[in-house]
Order: sequence, then C-alpha cells, then structure tokens
Amino acid sequence: MRVLCIINLKGGVGKTISAVNLAFIFAELHGKKVLLIDCDKQGNTSKFYGVHDRDGEGLTELLTVRKAQVGRYIQKTRYKLVDVIPANMSLINANKQILIDCTRPQQTRLKDALEEIAPKYDFCIVDCAPDINMTTLNALVAADDVLVPIKIDKFSFDGIAELFEQLDDVRTFNPSLRLAGLFATMARRNSVNRQGEAFLREASGYPMFETAIRDTCRVTETTYAGRALEEYAPKCTAAQDYRKLAGEYLAMCGKEARENGKV
Ligand SMILES: Nc1ncnc2c1ncn2[C@@H]1O[C@H](COP(=O)(O)OP(=O)(O)OP(=O)(O)O)[C@@H](O)[C@H]1O
Ligand SMILES: [Mg+2]
Repeated sequence: MRVLCIINLKGGVGKTISAVNLAFIFAELHGKKVLLIDCDKQGNTSKFYGVHDRDGEGLTELLTVRKAQVGRYIQKTRYKLVDVIPANMSLINANKQILIDCTRPQQTRLKDALEEIAPKYDFCIVDCAPDINMTTLNALVAADDVLVPIKIDKFSFDGIAELFEQLDDVRTFNPSLRLAGLFATMARRNSVNRQGEAFLREASGYPMFETAIRDTCRVTETTYAGRALEEYAPKCTAAQDYRKLAGEYLAMCGKEARENGKV
C-alpha cells in the first residue's frame, strides 16, 4: 500500500476535491483498492462519500484509543473499491489528547495502525487539514508521498515555506518521505495565472506535475451531488485533468517500482 498525503497549509486550495476525485479514479478507472483517510475535523471527505457522523467513531479513536483495531474505524462506501476512515469535530480533542499522552509514541500512531491493513489496499489517500497539528504530523509520518495542490493567486506561496520546513522535520521519523510534486488547481487562462504557473514550473525549484486542474463550476456542483467528477461530469475540463494527474502519479509510482526491481 502506498500512502499519499494531499496537503497545503493554506485553506480552500482543492485538497479535498483532489483527494476524493483521485480516490475515485484510482478505484473505478484503474481497479485499485483505495483507503481514504479524512484528517480534517471539517469532515468534508467523509461527507462527500456519505460516511460522516458527528458523533461516530473514526480517526479520533484510531489515534487515541490504546490498542485500537484499525478495521473497526473503516467505513465502506457505495463504491466497492473505496473505503473511508471518517473524521468529525472530535479531532480537535484528539489533537490535544495525543499531545497529553506521552506514555506512548505520538507521531507514529497512524503509521503503526496502517501497517495492519496495508496488504488489503493499493493506495491510501490522506486528505489533510490546512493546519499543522498532531493529526497532520501522524499523516506525514505515515506517508510515502506528498502532493501539494496550489491555487494560483497572490497568496499561493503563503505557508509553502512552512510546509517544506515541516516536511524536513518529519523526515527524522520518516526519512523516505517524498515530495511527489505540486499541481495547480482552479487554473484559469488569464495572464496572472499563467505567470504564477510559469514561476512555479521554471523558477521555484519545486517539482511540479505537468497537469493543472482547470477551474470549472462543475466541481462545486459535485460537492452538492456527492458524486466524483468522473461520475457526475466526466467530460468536463477538471474531470479530464484529474484523470491525467492520476495517470502522471501512477506512472511515477510504476517507474519507481521498476527502478527498485519491485515489478
Ligand atoms: N477545479 C476547481 N474548479 C472550481 N472550483 C473548485 C475546483 N477545485 C476546488 N474547487 C472549489 O474550491 C472550494 C475549496 O475546495 P476544497 O474543499 O477541495 O479545498 P480544501 O483545500 O480541501 O479546503 P480546506 O482547506 O478548507 O480543507 C470548494 O468549494 C470547491 O468546490
Ligand atoms: Mg479540505
């Protein structure tokens, strides 16, 4: 199982939309078994896949209950190949409890829990909150890859330096953590966007995916419909782009596996 963390400390950049759509594409178009983990107290990923319960168990208990059995917190969705570990507002307390309880490891709880179920899944996609807290740290320690959606505007780079500092810190616990790349979201064909994207590609020094996810109102419609773009509007620009992004990422994983002699 490969764990990819979708993260940006900035809010509203398309983390959740990317997580839920990539999960759907990996599962329904590529036949991969996917576990989605909602690491955000807002529970948007859980809501999207219809498994949000404000009083229910989920990531909070997984991170705080001693000897938690991860299987207990995995929810099935209407898609055979997509399961979700949901989150709700109780994650606020979980973050405090993890900090208080230093009688056992604090940063490796998710990683340890996922080891148990790793053989059952091809991918685990983690939708992070726009925040650094104990849940985010656990997600980064458990991750193989980090993907960073960027909405290109004047504030695009806010938080990026802090995020990369955080990734460096996390490497103490997780030395093989890889920044798979940044990708533009809500991309428009105007000069500000083009300049921002050109800077990211040519001057920033950050690894960038070729694919940019275009801006379309179809995306917002899917949040009401609770359907992935692939189901709701497969011909729209963003649906095409997410298919391409998924292809780029899977090709990257395939290349790496070949280089390591795993296939
Ligand atoms: N490609 C797109 N085109 C148009 N709107 C989009 C696109 N991607 C995301 N959005 C819209 O932007 C808003 C924020 O998206 P999303 O919830 O995925 O961001 P987020 O980074 O997860 O936010 P948060 O930090 O609050 O968790 C949503 O209303 C969503 O519909
Ligand atoms: Mg989100």
